[in-house]
Amino acid sequence: MQTVTLIPGDGIGPEITESVTKILNAAGAKINWDIQSAGADVAETEGSPLPDRVIESIKKTKVALKAPVTTPIGKGFRSVNVALRKSLDLYANLRPCKNIEGIKTRFDNVDIVIVRENTEDLYAGIERQIDNDTAESIKIITRNASTRIVKFAFEYAKKNNRKLVTAVSKANICKLSDGLFLECAREVAKKYPQIKYKEILVDNLCMQLVQKPEQFDVLVLPNLYGDIVSDLCAGLIGGLGIAQGANIGSNAAVFEPVHGSAPDIKGQHKANPTALLLSAIEMLKYINQNDVAYKIEKSLFKTIKERKILTPDLGGNATTTEYTNEIIKNL
Ligand code: NAI
Repeated sequence: MQTVTLIPGDGIGPEITESVTKILNAAGAKINWDIQSAGADVAETEGSPLPDRVIESIKKTKVALKAPVTTPIGKGFRSVNVALRKSLDLYANLRPCKNIEGIKTRFDNVDIVIVRENTEDLYAGIERQIDNDTAESIKIITRNASTRIVKFAFEYAKKNNRKLVTAVSKANICKLSDGLFLECAREVAKKYPQIKYKEILVDNLCMQLVQKPEQFDVLVLPNLYGDIVSDLCAGLIGGLGIAQGANIGSNAAVFEPVHGSAPDIKGQHKANPTALLLSAIEMLKYINQNDVAYKIEKSLFKTIKERKILTPDLGGNATTTEYTNEIIKNL
């Protein structure tokens, strides 16, 4: 039995969490969940949207499965997600984007792995109001964080038999900050002569991705570009409902979908639990419960390929519960 921290989140979070834990139970996962609430409701009762108990739990269990948490726009508390990644130093955000058979998209040859830096850039949260009409956000790029994220990308490529790592920047404009990111990337790349290394500007990358996504393999990006490009890549494979992710550090890992709390469909029984389920499958592999992971993966891909019972975002009309039960039936 492995203890894993479970953060059900808010919005559609609790709905997809219920679905995923039901599937994991049915498949025989040996997990003891340490359930930790976080988010706006918790902020009201405990004074912080991310109380220390959540961090302490993950420090102890070293692994967490997390559903999305709402972040207020423009005012209110800082993002729980950003705070969690920073306080546990989960420096690498890993987001694989691969076509799934049965989900019709414009391209059928997408197999891209996004490695996003997770701790600095504009997400350092250093902002100030200079006067009524002027605000400032500071973008921080350091040698240490850039080197370790590019190293992570190359190590991932090596372990997973990937052939190409592309570093993404806007170094023509942000000459110092993105320039430093590229300088670090070039240094690291020299140590992996067996893996091809390329560079691309982020605007050109976006255009190329929606024309010829098959030319990319592993992408390594500073935080903000990584955030934006991973949603774009989610769109290439069929939308946010199936885009998985993981935040990995030296001492802990938090597995979570790319999407947010989708307040527009909360409580409507429409939420697609696939992205959280795929994240949970990666988590099962991470804690060495490979048999259960592959069993669930097989059943999930069969359910999608058959296209009989699917949630509305995938072109079906099934509820979250009907889709969940179909995956359990196919186990
Ligand atoms: P969102 O990802 O929640 O939703 C964007 C669109 O995709 C919506 O139309 C939504 O209905 C749809 N969608 C997302 N996930 C879906 C799913 N599983 N099944 C079916 N449809 C799905 O992005 P949005 O609206 O920009 O953000 C909402 C809140 O989530 C914000 O407060 C944001 O800060 C937060 N957020 C949290 C994240 C996290 O906890 N890791 C990540 C991204 C956003």
